[in-house]
Order: sequence, then structure tokens, then C-alpha cells
Amino acid sequence: MLVVFIGPPGSGKGTQANQLCQHLSITHLSTGDMFRAAIQDETELGVQAQEYINRGELVPDQLVVSMVAGALGNPPCNSGCLLDGFPRSLPQAEALDQMLDAEGKKVDLALELNVDEKVLIDRLLARKRPDDTIDTIHHRLQVYREQTSPLLNYYRERGQLRTVNGDGTVDEVHQQILAEVAEKNP
Ligand code: AP5
Repeated sequence: MLVVFIGPPGSGKGTQANQLCQHLSITHLSTGDMFRAAIQDETELGVQAQEYINRGELVPDQLVVSMVAGALGNPPCNSGCLLDGFPRSLPQAEALDQMLDAEGKKVDLALELNVDEKVLIDRLLARKRPDDTIDTIHHRLQVYREQTSPLLNYYRERGQLRTVNGDGTVDEVHQQILAEVAEKNP
């Protein structure tokens, strides 16, 4: 099964991805985590990505797409994969569809986590990651509205989108996600 999580910063993509991947025994691919690992290891990709991440901008599509293409080609993804934080622009969604098409695969479920902005800001300020300053959070939210939210229509038009209310306890949200997954993958 191939699942895509879409949601603004702080909507719980990483938290819920961990739970769902354990439940389904599928691989969790988080582009944010991959970039943070590259930054920590001081790789060339990490150096390139860091300036964008610190400003709350999206890392350029071609860097993200080649990183994901490499990861998706790894054997653990053959038994299923959850993409957390990718795609987040229309060109990324189109590139993903092309990659999957070449393998005879497709996105089975695009799951939107919907959370009120005030709740998002409170969650992120409480977490204190380097890109969780108030100014960067506001910019990340704007980038989400402008560049990522058009993906909702992209997946809706293809019949792949489901939305859950991400403003509950972690377990309540997990239960809603399980219900959506069960419908797609009985
Ligand atoms: P990324 O790491 O993906 O960050 P993000 O999308 O901003 O999302 P967050 O990690 O902030 O939040 P989340 O939705 O995963 O929520 P979480 O579970 O952590 O990306 C970082 C940067 O990398 C981007 O800004 C961009 O620069 C770059 N990047 C990444 N992917 C890219 C791409 N495809 N293209 C271009 N650039 C890309 O939860 C947040 C907090 O809330 C936690 O403290 C958690 O404990 C808490 N929480 C979670 N659920 C609940 C709940 N139900 N109730 C209460 N608290 C909760």
C-alpha cells in the first residue's frame, strides 16, 4: 500500500506516520527527517537544504524528487510505503505519479490532516525545533497554503483524497486514519 500524508506544519504527519507504519508494517519515508539527517551529517544535500529549511521555504523540487526516487527504489519500500511530507507541490506530485507509473504502482490513499492554525502554532511553539520560531512558522503556513494545498484538489480529482480531523488526541486521530485505510485496503 502506498499512502501519502498531506497537512500543514504541526498537523501530526510524523506522529501519525509512526503509528500507521507500525500498524501496517510499511516503511516511513519523511522528507523532513531525511533532510535533517543530511544536515546533521553535513552532506552536500544537507548544506543545500539547510538554508531553505531555516527560512521555512520548500527545498527545490529537483533536489527533493531525486532524494525520494532513490529512497523509493530501496527494497523495504516494495512491501508498502508511507510518504510523510512529500509531495508538497504540484510538480512533486506529478513526478511521484511518473515514478510510480513506471513501476506499475499508484498512490492508494492521500490522507489530509486538517487542523486549525491556532492549534498548529501552539503545538509547534511547544516543540522548539530550530525552524519552529514564530516568524518561520507563519511563513511555513503560508507556503503550505500557496504551494501544498493545491495538492488537495489534485488528489480529490483522482479519487485518492480522504480528510481526517487532526485536532483530537493522538489516538483519536489514529483511529480515524485506520478507518480510512480500512476502506481503501479492506
Ligand atoms: P517537515 O519535517 O516535513 O516539517 P513540516 O511539514 O513543517 O511538519 P512538522 O514536522 O513541523 O509537523 P508534522 O505535521 O510532522 O507534525 P508532528 O507529528 O511533528 O519539513 C521540514 C522542512 O523540510 C520544510 O519546511 C521544507 O523546508 C523541507 N521539506 C520537507 N519536505 C519537503 C518537500 N517535499 N519539498 C520541499 N521541501 C521539503 O507534530 C508536531 C507537534 O505536535 C509535535 O510536538 C507532536 O508531539 C505534537 N502533536 C502531534 N499530534 C498531536 C495531537 N493529536 N495532539 C497534540 N499534540 C500533537
